[in-house]
Amino acid sequence: MDYARAWLPRLKARLLPLVLGAGLVTWVLYALAAPPLEGPHTHTERHTLRPPPRLRPYPPPHANSLWNSRAERVREAFLHAYSGYQQYAGAQDELLPITNTSVNNFNGWGLQLIDALDTMWIMDLKEEFLDAMPVVANLTFHLSDKQYAPFFETVIRYLGGLLSAYALSGEPTLLARADDLGTMLLPAFKTPHGLPMYAVNTVTGATKSGWSPDVLWAEALSCQLEYKYLAHLTGRQEYFGPVEHIMDLMQAAKVKDGMFPTKWKMLSGIPSNDQFSVGAFADSAHEYLLKQWLLTSRSENKALDLYLKAASGIINHLLYLTPNRQLLYVTDTSGTNAIPSHTFEHLSCFLPGLLALGAHTLPLSDDDRQLHAWAAEGLAYTCWITYADHATGLGPDEMIMEDWDDDPSGAKGRWLEHVRAWQRKGSPGGVPPGLREVQTKERGERDYITRQGGYLLRPEAVESFYLLWRLTGDEKWRERGWAVFEAIERETKTLSGYASVSSVESSPAPKKNEMPSFFMAETLKYLYLLFRDEDLVPLDQWVFNTEAHPLPIFQWADWEKERYGIP
Ligand SMILES: *[C@@H]1O[C@H](CO)[C@@H](O)[C@H](O)[C@H]1NC(C)=O
Ligand SMILES: *[C@@H]1O[C@H](CO)[C@@H](O)[C@H](O)[C@H]1NC(C)=O
Repeated sequence: MDYARAWLPRLKARLLPLVLGAGLVTWVLYALAAPPLEGPHTHTERHTLRPPPRLRPYPPPHANSLWNSRAERVREAFLHAYSGYQQYAGAQDELLPITNTSVNNFNGWGLQLIDALDTMWIMDLKEEFLDAMPVVANLTFHLSDKQYAPFFETVIRYLGGLLSAYALSGEPTLLARADDLGTMLLPAFKTPHGLPMYAVNTVTGATKSGWSPDVLWAEALSCQLEYKYLAHLTGRQEYFGPVEHIMDLMQAAKVKDGMFPTKWKMLSGIPSNDQFSVGAFADSAHEYLLKQWLLTSRSENKALDLYLKAASGIINHLLYLTPNRQLLYVTDTSGTNAIPSHTFEHLSCFLPGLLALGAHTLPLSDDDRQLHAWAAEGLAYTCWITYADHATGLGPDEMIMEDWDDDPSGAKGRWLEHVRAWQRKGSPGGVPPGLREVQTKERGERDYITRQGGYLLRPEAVESFYLLWRLTGDEKWRERGWAVFEAIERETKTLSGYASVSSVESSPAPKKNEMPSFFMAETLKYLYLLFRDEDLVPLDQWVFNTEAHPLPIFQWADWEKERYGIP
């Protein structure tokens, strides 16, 4: 592609604008920040409660504190990865950080760049951000007849990335492209009950299903934040209607005890299995229930009710303790008797952050608020221990946790019952089960075995550390995040970027030739925010989508409520 060649001279020219062009860059920024004059996107006056777009990038850190200097190290890591991407992957999807080549796994529209735009803004990398604008301006979202864009991934990464970069910078081009893409993906909802198809051709509107004819719960419920914000920015009913229709379907679904199954039937719109999980097939659905309520200024009670149900389903049925170190973990269950598999996925490490966010915002009884907060703390601690247990300092992707003796039904390990028993005894020691700090263990002595032993540069653990640090103010989460960052530097860095590793057991870890786009979009963003002393993305003003793209909290205006039928 032309893009690849265009990046090289730009890299060499980097020093010139730094020395000569500071004034010009500032001028360009102010020019970009000027409000658009005409067109469908000038509703800002009407939405008085929406925070105005940030007109300038975030300031660099003021004080030379220890933590701000650690944030600076993360920014350097980002620049290392991003310059490798620019140099060797041009505007392809992802850098392969060992061979210095690239791969197009996500439509070939320059995923890593789009996914990283808001991180650049937050890290005050103005020049990189502005250099990327011509690439954004050129996006056509073209696919050949035989290609399909996976709906879920395209929404959370590309659409979420464009919308977040727009919200932070106010650069109208980003919104124009988000609007184009949002429209091109709409054919996915043209199904009997409006559950989205797995993939769409953005040119012809043809759709196709994935490996399963059913719809994964996570895929049905991880488009509402992006499409509702897009509806708010554009005033277009066709963005709001289809995603709210899925919320109606969930509200009408006859599920027991807040247990929303992982798979739903495309043709009849009802559950197709009895598996419950917060891992791969379900994870971000939980997030989007709470976060929709937060994004729309706590006005949508449907989202609130569904989150409260799903969260109590998790607390009652999916949280378990190991018999040995009493590690709290979340697993999945199957069958009408909800038999636990004892699998624990790194992907599920987003849950402690989400529960903490809920504990600080939801209308809960004191007892429930405490349970949510304890579960958050205990789960995040287990995520941390799975890193600390390993010589590399990195955590494995999937574990099978130790079971209690003679316990086929799983009843003995259920966390809630241990908490209630501890409370009946008068809460001895003051620390509930699953929250006590423990010793790290060597291989063979741990209360779990690894099923997938690699670390794929995933964000979920540090995402939860960030949320817990901001919500509780407890510095231990920053210390743990710093240990994770040092391990990432030590074990995953390559000459042109950072690489997933195939085993976390011994150092040096064996590297894999891949650098997923969420590394720059999520992992480095959350680490940077964890270390920066200034609260750059306040949680009472922003909601992160499941790819760590912050969207601004807004209020529906009366005319929007009327138009979209919001009660
Ligand atoms: C990849 O790029 C880096 C940095 O430019 C370079 O040092 C390294 O030798 C390259 N590796 C290969 C396999 O070309
Ligand atoms: C954008 O597209 C135009 C026309 O095809 C091309 O000349 C230009 O190089 C492209 N710019 C970038 C940054 O890709």
